[in-house]
Amino acid sequence: MPFQVKTYEEYKEAYAHSVAQPEAFWDDIASHFQWRKKWDKTLAWTFTEPNVQWFINGKLNITENCIDRHLPLLGNKPAIIWEANSKEQQHVVITYSELYEQVNNFAQVLRNNGIQKGDRVCIYMGMIPQLAVAMLACARIGAIHSVIFGGFSASSISDRLQDAQAAHIITCDGAYRGPKDIPLKNIVDEALVSCPFVKKVIVYQRTNKPVNMVAGRDVWWYDELQKVTAQGHQPIAAEEMDAEDPLFILYTSGSTGKPKGVVHSCAGYMVYATYSFVNVFQYRPGEVHFCTADIGWITGHSYIVYGVLCAGGTSLMYEGIPTYPDAGRFWDIVAKHKANILYTAPTAIRSLMAYGTAPIEGKDLSSLRVLGTVGEPINEEAWHWYNEHIGKKNCAIVDTWFQTETGGILISNLAGVTPSKPSYATLPLPGIQLALMDEQGKEMTGNNISGNLCIKFPWPSILRTTWGDHERCRLNYFATYKDMYFTGDGCHRDEQGFYRITGRVDDVLNVSGHRIGTAEVENAINMQEGVLESAVVGYPHDIKGQGIYAYVILEQSHEHEQGMQAHILQNVTRIIGPFARPDKIQFVKGLPKTRSGKIMRRILRKIAEGDLANIGDTSTLLDPGVVDDIKDGKV
Ligand code: WT7
Repeated sequence: MPFQVKTYEEYKEAYAHSVAQPEAFWDDIASHFQWRKKWDKTLAWTFTEPNVQWFINGKLNITENCIDRHLPLLGNKPAIIWEANSKEQQHVVITYSELYEQVNNFAQVLRNNGIQKGDRVCIYMGMIPQLAVAMLACARIGAIHSVIFGGFSASSISDRLQDAQAAHIITCDGAYRGPKDIPLKNIVDEALVSCPFVKKVIVYQRTNKPVNMVAGRDVWWYDELQKVTAQGHQPIAAEEMDAEDPLFILYTSGSTGKPKGVVHSCAGYMVYATYSFVNVFQYRPGEVHFCTADIGWITGHSYIVYGVLCAGGTSLMYEGIPTYPDAGRFWDIVAKHKANILYTAPTAIRSLMAYGTAPIEGKDLSSLRVLGTVGEPINEEAWHWYNEHIGKKNCAIVDTWFQTETGGILISNLAGVTPSKPSYATLPLPGIQLALMDEQGKEMTGNNISGNLCIKFPWPSILRTTWGDHERCRLNYFATYKDMYFTGDGCHRDEQGFYRITGRVDDVLNVSGHRIGTAEVENAINMQEGVLESAVVGYPHDIKGQGIYAYVILEQSHEHEQGMQAHILQNVTRIIGPFARPDKIQFVKGLPKTRSGKIMRRILRKIAEGDLANIGDTSTLLDPGVVDDIKDGKV
């Protein structure tokens, strides 16, 4: 079996082989990597506990696969190209040899600061190459990184630090994001008020704004690096890791108020992130891969850092936002670096569509070969715009479906190899066995059906656990359907057997490709003094895909208070982050509840959507009258 399938026929063969003989299939794929010691057994698994192990007793270090093994042939080739937020600043190119040196030196800094194998290290930085260096340096010494997206608030950081019991943080003085300059270090300081167990904070200087440095706890990245380089460049031996040792934790929202720490393993994650990268994008040596995601999400982990570097690719990353300094930002970057692959989110496409085609005019996009989307369903209009105006009808478009928990892309067409269909993620990758389940928990067979999307067989980068709470992992993903991993997504399989993801079926929102739990937003709203209760639902939003609609009941004494709306928004920003702010807030007297006290979100969703005619049966409600009141007051 070749590592990269090149024709539709080869895809079909690879898929059939991966189902008939999964162990043999993955043995072959895994043999393309560098191992310190080969595995004894390919797979052991049960979904009931769950317990999944891949490449058992194999030993490796992912950074040797991302960097060291490329040095002889690719040493002088760019590993990372970085574009700064401001056009005035020169871009930076880091070759594989330079990356090797930077990762080794910073790995030594981590060791000098007392970090050991198995320790959790939280990384809260902007989109600068040092973020990738920090991750790789952790991986080099076997520390488990937990990257926190730079848009999260102090209280979200402290929740994550406490959950992971991370005693070390790597951050920046600040981060540039479009016209804004975000004071990351101040936010960390605020988070640390409730995290006395944090021993060290390593601070990279990006914005050069004054920050408060706590003696004994806070150190400068640059100073620490000087201490290491003063002794000469001594590459450090990468830690030998077991295949199943955790590589990183990445927190993600679920249907409860508390985010879950999704744990990925060293070997399985490496194998699948790389395999999916090379196949979905049909990556060719020498190409420039431009993924616009933030490294704080799984897309950035897999398709800016690990998958791309393991494949010996060139990863183009940028700091900032798609519309700064203007809406031509992406196209300037593509033209400047002759990017061959552009991988972005439907929400970014929709927001750029709103500026028309003027920002594209005169920009040379002829280097592009593949266009990708991820994070949410892409509407046909956006798909066609992307195809015509960016791809000039000359590029393959891949709609890639995956999740934080899956580690890599599970459903997607393979660029130029398997058929594409607008708004369809199309077909599972080799090794991915899908099932659509009905309400009774039975698998639905045949085509032209819709059900809940499950996966029947493990793939190498399936999550291993949720940090510190294995039972939560079981309940969340493996308890709804027997012997299945449940994705939380609804899905349609058409007449040809192509898959279209229809969106979450649980209480999770997808706002601009960011996953947000309704319970998390409700908790944040309820923290506001004067709020008695709230209920949050999603509604269709032209740009964001989904908007956040909050129904809020105030305590009687606060009912006529000025500025409540603004206070609530501030609270959500303070507790979660600005991206979780509700788009609409409606103050109500009551919420539609069943006699057992459960909020009927279905009704609230209908009202938020403006679909007032189809509210459905309200007779099971404790007080059906509240529905009319809410309808009358709709925002
Ligand atoms: C959820 C996972 C995967 C990277 C970014 C989000 C939705 C993801 C698609 C797609 C339709 C998609 C799903 C999924 N989603 N990709 N191509 N088409 N929906 O990662 O935060 O873990 O969210 O994003 O609902 O469950 P995440």
